[in-house]
Amino acid sequence: MSTITIKQKVKSLLNTLPGLLVTAFVTDDFLQGIRLRGGLISTDSGATHMNLSEAESLSYIEKVFAEYKKYGGIDKFFGRVAEIGPGDNAGVAMLMRRDGCQKVDLIDRYYSSRNPEQQSKIYNLIAQKYHLNHLRTTNYWDEQALPGINWKIGEAAEVYFENCVQEEGEVYDFIVSRAVLEHLYDPLHAINQMIACLKPGGRMFHEIDFRDHGMFSPIRHELTFLEVPETIYPWMVRNSGRPNRILVHKYRNILESMKNSGLIDYSILVTHLVNVGDITPHQVFEEISLDKQHQAIKFVEENRQKFASTFHHTDGQDLAVAGIFLIVTKKG
Ligand SMILES: C[S@@+](CC[C@H](N)C(=O)[O-])C[C@H]1O[C@@H](n2cnc3c(N)ncnc32)[C@H](O)[C@@H]1O
Repeated sequence: MSTITIKQKVKSLLNTLPGLLVTAFVTDDFLQGIRLRGGLISTDSGATHMNLSEAESLSYIEKVFAEYKKYGGIDKFFGRVAEIGPGDNAGVAMLMRRDGCQKVDLIDRYYSSRNPEQQSKIYNLIAQKYHLNHLRTTNYWDEQALPGINWKIGEAAEVYFENCVQEEGEVYDFIVSRAVLEHLYDPLHAINQMIACLKPGGRMFHEIDFRDHGMFSPIRHELTFLEVPETIYPWMVRNSGRPNRILVHKYRNILESMKNSGLIDYSILVTHLVNVGDITPHQVFEEISLDKQHQAIKFVEENRQKFASTFHHTDGQDLAVAGIFLIVTKKG
């Protein structure tokens, strides 16, 4: 039996006793903290391409890139960009370079496992299709030596942007991420710092997945993770990068106050609804069909009595939002 199958079996056994599963998550997070402090930053999180064919990898990269532009409402990337949590591949950064960016910084707290041979094939495919062979500076694809693309591995976004504010100031034209902010241990602080690092007129696009990432689901219902008390939950997630449970209302609160002070404009599109699934194309909540809105909110209200006290008074509509695409523009 493979290690993954054993892990899955243990997890489903523990899921029959959620208290035990919570204890296992806390223990695992503690151990991951020790690993991190010891400089062991490799992880399977972000190893997006590990189980994809090269053609599938290419279409994933193209999709991520196209969605940034489609929902962000831009024709081309330009200037200096930060991509947070790129995972195991720099393909999106390569396409940004092709668009006209001078510099793309790839900021990741961990080192996502990767297979250099497979990555090389993916880079080849991108280079052939988009005429990017000039980005290969050695006789093989050395992703650390891609011109204009700088990996900042081992740097948490929270810390990176804090340093950026102090050392560089307003330098970024764009800051983007996909499936990353839900893994930050302090995403709201990071958002604040990122906005401080945007140039006037600069933009941020973040796709944020609020689901439980298989912590309790699908064995238990998808909102089970909201039942864990607030005093315990952070101890399950801080070091391991499990979802931080910072949901849409928390983002809206800080963004709304920055909007009111004239610093930014922002909009939030819904990408997934609880008990409904994907919302494609992504839409503002009010534009989603009433049937879907009700189906999601009803599910929230049916389960609300078991939620941790921190969610008792959270609007049902906010708890029904299981993923967003966030667009922020810093005023010029
Ligand atoms: C689910 S993966 C997403 C990878 C990639 N964006 C994609 O779409 O396939 C999450 C990524 O966020 C990174 N990450 C987690 N916590 C982070 C933090 N505090 N700062 C920067 N990156 C972080 C992980 O290492 C991983 O690469």
